[in-house]
Amino acid sequence: MNSSINRRSFLGSTTLLGASLAAAPLFAASTPGDSKKLKVGLIGCGGRGKGAAKNFIDACKIIGVEAEVTATADAFKEASETAGKAFGVAEDRCFSGYDAYQKVLATDCTYVIMATPPSFRPLHFAAAVEAGKHCFIEKPVCVDPPGARSIIATGEKAAAKGLAVVTGTQRRYQAAYLRNKALIDAGAIGQIKGGVVQWNGTVPWTKRRVEGDTDASYITRNWLNFTELSGDHIVEQHVHNLDVAVWFLGRLPVSALGFGGRARRQTGNMFDFFSIDLDFGDDVHIHSQCRQITGTHQNVGEFFTGTEGSCYGSGKMTGKKIEVPEIKLESPDPYVQEHVAMIRSVMAGKPINEAKRIAESTLVAIMGRISAYTGQIVRWNDLMLNESSPFYQLTCLPTAADFEKGPVQMPVETPSVPGKG
Ligand SMILES: NC(=O)c1ccc[n+]([C@@H]2O[C@H](COP(=O)([O-])OP(=O)(O)OC[C@H]3O[C@@H](n4cnc5c(N)ncnc54)[C@H](O)[C@@H]3O)[C@@H](O)[C@H]2O)c1
Repeated sequence: MNSSINRRSFLGSTTLLGASLAAAPLFAASTPGDSKKLKVGLIGCGGRGKGAAKNFIDACKIIGVEAEVTATADAFKEASETAGKAFGVAEDRCFSGYDAYQKVLATDCTYVIMATPPSFRPLHFAAAVEAGKHCFIEKPVCVDPPGARSIIATGEKAAAKGLAVVTGTQRRYQAAYLRNKALIDAGAIGQIKGGVVQWNGTVPWTKRRVEGDTDASYITRNWLNFTELSGDHIVEQHVHNLDVAVWFLGRLPVSALGFGGRARRQTGNMFDFFSIDLDFGDDVHIHSQCRQITGTHQNVGEFFTGTEGSCYGSGKMTGKKIEVPEIKLESPDPYVQEHVAMIRSVMAGKPINEAKRIAESTLVAIMGRISAYTGQIVRWNDLMLNESSPFYQLTCLPTAADFEKGPVQMPVETPSVPGKG
């Protein structure tokens, strides 16, 4: 068996918490006379968590309701308290540690933002839905196939409880993308026959082990360079472009066959680059390409060719002249617009639920990664249906639950090497 599979164990299916059919409230009262504030809890207080909390507050301003951050949670005390201070959260509501999310969920927030590394998302999302919160869960939402299936199952529970789930795929709230998607659906480029989606950039950041670090604290701080926490950059970053491919084509790939490698990365166990052929069936292929190497050509985007034209994800389109209704959004900032849409959907009693959609897009990226790590063709059904496939239960270790139990096993710090010498 390939080394990348050897170092992960195959666990049993994820247990999920029971569903309840209680209706979800929009507002929650914390103190008498203070009943019309939208209260949000923040889990994961890094760059995106703080950004998303601000986006939520800005969305509330557009809608004309007051917002309050009730509590913060982070693995690290300093991060939780810094975010708490920025949003006026009382010190005793700034929680830290791997179980801090549970303390945020115990507060009177009706919404919760989850922006930890994605490996923690399935566990935290299940607990948040159990607690009856509307959820903003940042992409990607898992790092392995059991995680994706867990997100889908929790999403179904959220739907049964009337809870909203929005997922940080902001391209779907961006006018230029929405317009091109509407034009494609109206037939402007005919049938999509192929394309390429790319995220070619640099390693965003690296953290070195420092004195006093445990294995857990080191890999949590340097999560962006460990597959077990980030899913690798094909999942963590490139999921945005893969999500556009799935969205524009309106279906999922049936298999992935790809490769990748590592030449430059200084820490962790991820690849530097991936090149994946995604077979969408009906002779339609999309090339997924991503790279994180400083000093190389950089570009991020999508391009599709159709039977009657072609188009970039959010740019130029050639093909038939077709009119589609103007895209009207309440905010020009897609990061704010996604919160506006989430809150409005709850107010209208028709909560948006994107859980399945983002789980699937994340799993497309995971499918590409598994193919590159193992050198094998990986079929969608191997990840979703075929329980006898070695990939079905492929679980990245340590899991989110392991971190809560105590010291964790340090992942191997070398990348996968497919094939035989
Ligand atoms: N939509 C977008 O464009 C976009 C942009 C950037 C990041 N993201 C996503 O947002 C998420 C966070 O990314 P970031 O850039 O903010 O990273 P970050 O490292 O800045 O923040 C992550 C925070 O989570 C904390 N954390 C780690 N494990 C935790 C746990 N178990 N419980 C509580 N806190 C924990 C970390 O200590 C850190 O403060 C990732 O999923 C990332 O892919 C999305």
